Amino acid sequence: MNEIEQLKRQAAEKAVEYVRDGMVLGLGTGSTTAYAIQRIGERVQAGELKNIVGIPSSEKTARQALELGIHLTTFEQHPVIDLTIDGADEVDPQLNLIKGGGGALLREKVLAQNSKQVIIIVDESKLSPQLGSKWPLPVEVLPFAWQPAARFLESLGAKVTLRQDQQHIFETDQGNFILDCRFGPIENPEDLERRIKSRAGILEHGLFLGLAHRVIVAGKNGVQELEP
Ligand code: A5P
Repeated sequence: MNEIEQLKRQAAEKAVEYVRDGMVLGLGTGSTTAYAIQRIGERVQAGELKNIVGIPSSEKTARQALELGIHLTTFEQHPVIDLTIDGADEVDPQLNLIKGGGGALLREKVLAQNSKQVIIIVDESKLSPQLGSKWPLPVEVLPFAWQPAARFLESLGAKVTLRQDQQHIFETDQGNFILDCRFGPIENPEDLERRIKSRAGILEHGLFLGLAHRVIVAGKNGVQELEP
């Protein structure tokens, strides 16, 4: 396992220490979260964690959880999540995030907004002085509206790319498209969020502002826990 993967695993395993018997978990998506789900599954199988249920943020996560014996649930059965564990693409000093590199941002945001606690797990390469410095902002759009949405996002200053999956247009679990929007460093994420959300056909974006309660960062010098 290379160094970055080891760091991801360290952050993930630290987060799993916050999981308690009987919790309803929000299960994020991505390579870092996959280590957390793996660890939760191991602890469930070892009988160390009891009565855990999870709401998955993607079909991929759902499959992984089921394979590991983690029971899945829905908002109908469990309206409030105790703890969501998820990754991020970029984390700024206020612990605002860019998410959506894996295309699951819409469900991930639903989980985060309905969780008592959100723990974000990253390796130190995800820390960023200003959101947008390292990563384009993913925006989920209705396929019907993707061209006008792209023009609108360009008018806000982004260089826009329709996400592809090999030769095909990438589709989210909801059957929508993702526009990756390279804004460069984002001066005012709150203002950008407001503008983006005002547009019909845009379903969600990867700015997660004020949603992380704790960010666990694994780096060469150890694991750090950050709170806003
Ligand atoms: C999934 O849609 C994303 O929000 C991921 O949480 C994010 O891209 C981080 O993924 P990795 O842990 O694979 O870097």
